[in-house]
Amino acid sequence: MTDDLAVVFSETAIAAAVRSLAGALAHDHVRDHADAPVVLVGVLKGALFFTADLARALPPALDARIDFLAVSSYGDGDRSSGEVRLLKDTSESIEGRHVVIVEDIVDNGLTLAYLQGLLASRRPASLRSCVLLNKPYRRKIDVTVDYVGLEAPDAFVVGYGLDYQERYRTLPYLGRLAPRADHGYGNRLSGAGAPRFE
Ligand code: PRP
Repeated sequence: MTDDLAVVFSETAIAAAVRSLAGALAHDHVRDHADAPVVLVGVLKGALFFTADLARALPPALDARIDFLAVSSYGDGDRSSGEVRLLKDTSESIEGRHVVIVEDIVDNGLTLAYLQGLLASRRPASLRSCVLLNKPYRRKIDVTVDYVGLEAPDAFVVGYGLDYQERYRTLPYLGRLAPRADHGYGNRLSGAGAPRFE
């Protein structure tokens, strides 16, 4: 199943990025919020493993809490509509809490922009974002990302939570699918510029 994958970031590279992100996040949190707990809000499904690894890389003294939400990005087909739907909300209220949105990837930025707007409206004490993979050249919207782990190549990246039609999520590394010569790039599956594979 993985013959068509080339490794982009190994398990070792991912682990180093996660450690680095956890260190920066912990440093800033203690500096700005002392001993108040931090709430990691992972965005399902892609950020499942990243959230788990990031949480465990934080110092126990940070008293990190974990919550999840799930969104569906866009309607069928039209990826430029900017429509994002909330499929699952957090279990706990985030009002007055120090929240970090944990995303596996920011591509065109619409999902993160939507989540920042949604969660900010709930009056958290603070709101930051922590993203493992960034594709800044794919942005359709200007969105603030506080912590970035890795710059993603201009390719369709899968593994470590990221899927292609629900496949490849459980790979421990990040790989790129072999593209057709005439496809567009990015982690988007439909609409103009969507990738196609052999
Ligand atoms: C991916 C990823 C982000 C979003 C980023 O989710 O996990 O949530 O796309 O894309 P954007 O910056 O272009 O908005 P996806 O919709 O593939 O769902 P999944 O996490 O369940 O795989």
